[in-house]
Amino acid sequence: MNELFYLTDDQRAIRDLARKIARERIAPHAAHYDETETYPEESMKAILESGLFGIWVPDEYGGTDMGCLALSLVSEEIAWACAATATQYLDQPLGGLPILLAGTPEQKKKYLPRLATGELLAAYSLSEPGAGSDAAGLRTTAVRTADRYVLNGSKQWCTNGDHADVLTVFATVDPKKRAKGVTAFLVEKDTPGFAVGKKEKKMGIRASPTVALHFTDCAVPVEQRLGAEGDGFKIAMQTLDITRPATGAMAVGVGQAALDAAVGYAKERRQFGQPIAAFQGIQFMLADMAMLVHSSRLMVHHSARQVDAGIRGNTYEASMAKCWAADAAMKVATDAVQIFGGYGYTREYPVERFMRDAKIMQIYEGTSQIQRVIIARELLGG
Ligand code: CAA
Repeated sequence: MNELFYLTDDQRAIRDLARKIARERIAPHAAHYDETETYPEESMKAILESGLFGIWVPDEYGGTDMGCLALSLVSEEIAWACAATATQYLDQPLGGLPILLAGTPEQKKKYLPRLATGELLAAYSLSEPGAGSDAAGLRTTAVRTADRYVLNGSKQWCTNGDHADVLTVFATVDPKKRAKGVTAFLVEKDTPGFAVGKKEKKMGIRASPTVALHFTDCAVPVEQRLGAEGDGFKIAMQTLDITRPATGAMAVGVGQAALDAAVGYAKERRQFGQPIAAFQGIQFMLADMAMLVHSSRLMVHHSARQVDAGIRGNTYEASMAKCWAADAAMKVATDAVQIFGGYGYTREYPVERFMRDAKIMQIYEGTSQIQRVIIARELLGG
């Protein structure tokens, strides 16, 4: 199979570095962290030590400014080994990109260099118990006083909310205004009135913590507002335009891992006197799985390259890539379990974890149905 000819030497090098770390230092721990539902300490340490953390941060703020395609390449490799660790890895740009997109020079100087090194961890908090797909319907309020905003309300399903040092929180200055009332804030973890709530017990990506957040008269200084009042929804969506390709890349990683496992097993497992790979029924399944992974990767790379080319308005392609790759990963992982048969249904083999991990790709950062809404709106013009 041919190498991706369009990668630059730097992109190839960062992909190869991520692959080495993922295979040698992350994959060996993945089953344990999944089983014990514990934070992937060793895996995150490996990523931190490798310098992969700051690749989305511009040079002037201490990063290596490698862009969205590089972020996608690294995310795929990490997800191949452990989707929960990849989710943690991508939470840093998810939480930090709003600062890059809308921060003041002071906010950028204050946070980005320490996010680039991993000294600070970030999180992104948009969803609420009553506002998942309908993000503009969020209800956490932000009331302005002389020099502060007082936040009240609860957030839901916040990745890394219990480990983050700084959280990009979306609240509303006027719920009646829907999207136009949404305003973004940088909330530091020790701000009085901020509390981490229930940690979810999840089907997959179990090593990536997902928590509720509570704000009770939580006073945030005006200097911690990101952008102007009412800019928050656009900041949230522009961030997702950049992170959705990389989330699609995580799905590619899970799909590739499932395909690799299925190919290996099909060649070893003998039934009716021959390896099951000799049966055309299995060969056709593997070929379909390979096409799904390959087409997902190409769509992810296309939308990531749009971001790197500075093309604004990549929403359509970002949604396509994320949706296609997530749905593909679910299908490929399910088929991998099928090829493993009874063994695939046990925890002795990793394919059942891939199947559980693939499921979240169709839900977080916008469900596959919401991606289709975005795609259809674009097609139909509004
Ligand atoms: N870039 C810039 N502006 C955008 C935009 C984008 N990509 N998308 C929308 N906007 C603007 C619109 O132009 C509009 O502005 P004007 O009023 O000035 O015209 C405004 O935002 C409102 O947009 P819509 O009318 O399209 O808003 P809507 O209420 O119809 O919702 C939606 C659109 C696509 C359904 C959106 O709510 C959405 O994406 N929902 C899914 C939310 C989501 O992805 N949540 C995941 C949370 S993150 C997560 O999962 C994290 C994790 O833990 C890993």
